[in-house]
Amino acid sequence: MKKILSILTLAALVIFAGVTFAANKKSVKPNDGKVVVPGDAETKFAKGYEIYKAKCAACHQLNGEGVTGAFPPLKNSDYLLADKKRAVNQVLNGSNHEITVNGAKYNIAMPPQVDNYEDAVAVINYVLNAWGNKGGTITVDEVKDIKIKR
Ligand code: HEC
Repeated sequence: MKKILSILTLAALVIFAGVTFAANKKSVKPNDGKVVVPGDAETKFAKGYEIYKAKCAACHQLNGEGVTGAFPPLKNSDYLLADKKRAVNQVLNGSNHEITVNGAKYNIAMPPQVDNYEDAVAVINYVLNAWGNKGGTITVDEVKDIKIKR
């Protein structure tokens, strides 16, 4: 009886170890060399994240912190979070006037970045939710009356 019990215990241990090993294996992902470890926004707004990396990160940086005195931050930006539609207009038409972001003044021009509502909404929904931002989302229908000036 004792022997059977110890065999059963051993079998249980082996199965447990196997399951733990399999679970660990699943969570190991190859390092793809990205600077920013993708979080929820990178998955949820994947299209916007791709546009961001291609068209915005050069100035606003991958971490959304911008460059002091030149390119305003998008992470925790009072200006961005105050008006989603203005942000969509910003990427469609750019801007060239002084703006104040989190108390600091910026006046370098930002050229237009995208030429259609779908891409503009995708990238703005990403920045509204990246880096801990909790800016909600905006839909294409809500921005269709913005004139694309080029
Ligand atoms: C060439 C550099 C450059 C690129 C590329 C660029 N921006 Fe900007 N961005 C700026 C500058 C400079 C301003 C301030 C413009 C002004 O003062 O009129 C700005 C302002 C903004 C603002 C409003 C201010 C704020 O910080 O909330 C948003 C939102 C924004 N950019 C989003 C984007 C997004 C999204 C992209 C990519 C689709 C992008 N920008 C690409 C330079 C850039």
